[in-house]
Amino acid sequence: MKKLIALLVVALMAFPSAVFAKDIKLPSPEKKGGKPLMECLAKRKTFRRFSPKMLPPQVLSNLLWAAWGINRPDGKRTAPSALNKQDISLYVVMHSGVYVYDAKANKLVQKKSDDLRQFCGAQEFHKTVPLIFVYVSDLSKFGKGGHAHAKFYAAVDTGLISQNVYLFAASNDLATVVCGWLDRNQLAKKLDLPKNVRVVLSQPVGYPRL
Ligand SMILES: Cc1cc2nc3c(=O)[nH]c(=O)nc-3n(C[C@H](O)[C@H](O)[C@H](O)COP(=O)(O)O)c2cc1C
Repeated sequence: MKKLIALLVVALMAFPSAVFAKDIKLPSPEKKGGKPLMECLAKRKTFRRFSPKMLPPQVLSNLLWAAWGINRPDGKRTAPSALNKQDISLYVVMHSGVYVYDAKANKLVQKKSDDLRQFCGAQEFHKTVPLIFVYVSDLSKFGKGGHAHAKFYAAVDTGLISQNVYLFAASNDLATVVCGWLDRNQLAKKLDLPKNVRVVLSQPVGYPRL
């Protein structure tokens, strides 16, 4: 019995996330419908007042797919990426913890169980908005050579995903704001990101508080 408990303690220390992680399986994304593109462009805007109401699973799944889902059999996505390196990971920060979007498995993989929303931006709404995307780039995917060039590509790749989110928000009457005003190093530490992996921008998404 003692041996079993000792083994359990060792396992917990070595793989805490494997033992406690609560991944969120998403419903299949609906790839039809929505407002016409020209209407979405006409409605696209930044909106900074959020209702506390969480997006239902189907809307969240649709949003994630629109943002950075796989849209072709070869694994390419709804947003382009420089050299098709797909350097961006879409982190989802909520009250219940931090998750990474696994587009292939269509689920949110839990990375942490703490509420880190307050670290995702410097504005008041970051503390209470139910859902914040954090765009994180693995710069090492662009090779060892040019760091500046990798950061440039990471910023562009993030902007393209962020615009997908803006258009989805316009189509679904949601509120969103992309945010560069954040302490990237502090958030990277809170997210336990390795050195080559950088926070680029954050983007709360939710229902508008009118
Ligand atoms: C790279 C980038 C960073 C931004 N950072 C912030 C931010 O930290 N906080 C904020 O409230 N808005 C931020 N914005 C939103 C802009 O203020 C907003 O897009 C601009 O005022 C134009 O408004 P519109 O999006 O409604 O056209 C950012 C936009 C971009 C493109």
